[in-house]
Amino acid sequence: MLTGKNILLGICGGIAAYKTPHLVRLLKKSGANVQVVATKSALKFVSELSLATVSRAPVLGDMFSEDSPGEGDRTLHITLGEWADAFVIAPATANTIARLSAGLCDDMLSVCFITLRPEKPVLVVPAMDGYMYESPSVRRNLSVLATQGCSILEPESGDLASGQCGLGRMPEPETIVETLADMLEPAPESLLKGKKVLITAGPTREKIDDVRFLSNYSSGKMGFAIAAAAARRGAIVRLVTGPVSLNTPAGVERIDVESAMEMMEASRRFFDDCDLFIGAAAVADYRPEQPVEGKLKKSGAAMDIRLVRNPDILAEFSAGRKQGQISVGFALETAGGIGYAREKLENKKLDLVAFNVYDRSTSGFEVDTNVLTLLDRAGNVSELPLLSKDAAAGRLLDAIEPLLYR
Ligand code: PMT
Repeated sequence: MLTGKNILLGICGGIAAYKTPHLVRLLKKSGANVQVVATKSALKFVSELSLATVSRAPVLGDMFSEDSPGEGDRTLHITLGEWADAFVIAPATANTIARLSAGLCDDMLSVCFITLRPEKPVLVVPAMDGYMYESPSVRRNLSVLATQGCSILEPESGDLASGQCGLGRMPEPETIVETLADMLEPAPESLLKGKKVLITAGPTREKIDDVRFLSNYSSGKMGFAIAAAAARRGAIVRLVTGPVSLNTPAGVERIDVESAMEMMEASRRFFDDCDLFIGAAAVADYRPEQPVEGKLKKSGAAMDIRLVRNPDILAEFSAGRKQGQISVGFALETAGGIGYAREKLENKKLDLVAFNVYDRSTSGFEVDTNVLTLLDRAGNVSELPLLSKDAAAGRLLDAIEPLLYR
């Protein structure tokens, strides 16, 4: 699977490090050349001799030690960044994740992270106690790494070294090798090439009066990332967007709108002419029935504003679509709620729905990352890891492409 690939394996000081000689053996068995870079504390959990023996190369760690292997080549930290086809950091501890997200480079592992060529993939495999993993600082730091383009392989649930049972276990080395092999597989020619794709993005604004509106926190980042990814794959992309402050992705035709009614009108113009419709916008379900001209004046202690339903753009597309057109929606909840996503798949007659949770730090509105679960009509459920919105957009399109040629 990894024949001839040069893999840099970063090992940090966590109990899961005891699994890394096996990980090295699997990588070697898959045909990879492996260079281990270990933090000081990693070598308290796993022996340098074991790692050097299975990798058939000296273990690198301290940049300045006189007797450190590689001594004599003072630019090894730079050349390794060139040599590596991918960098896997497993287990990645809270401490190393924090150091990497802050851009520190005070040992071989962190320097190699910085010198790795930007187009080379990085797979971060966090493993730690469940409470540490769920802590806001670890979540924030992982989200920074995901935004930088790192893929995060989420830990598994099970018995932890603390004696507790929960999320935090490092996935088995077999899973890590498979994930890495997927990441290094060359992308096939895209099935989206030449297809017409219509995407909605961003929030809508529903006027209360001439100076106020009802809206939501959507930034448009998810929809714009999908538009950019589809255009890169050769699709002809139209992007109908609510008010956002984002640049138009290269090769994308952008139509700016404000309200749900305007978004509906603009989308309708292109319904018949598209092969694929993706509703990533957070469209207001209701609008004030009678927006006031000018500025609404203060009156009593309370005020009633009567709201009326907005049309459902995605549902209308699905209901009237011609044969072969594909309809994809998003479902956003504030907690749990995958059942609602299934309902949307059914009720809006979608081919696929991307479920995401708004957690204010890593997924949903505004942030640069997202955690999507993809559900299709055949009953397939695919839980994607925490990814940058760009990477999540790519994975979403990967799931959509086969649907275009059913
Ligand atoms: O823009 P970002 O800050 O990057 O955030 C991304 C996002 C959270 C907005 C995006 O990932 C997302 O989940 N978009 C859909 C949010 C939403 O409003 O979900 P919903 O469950 O209310 O709607 C379900 C689906 O129907 C969506 O595809 C929506 O676009 C569509 N819809 C809803 C109402 C309506 N009147 N017309 C629609 O087309």
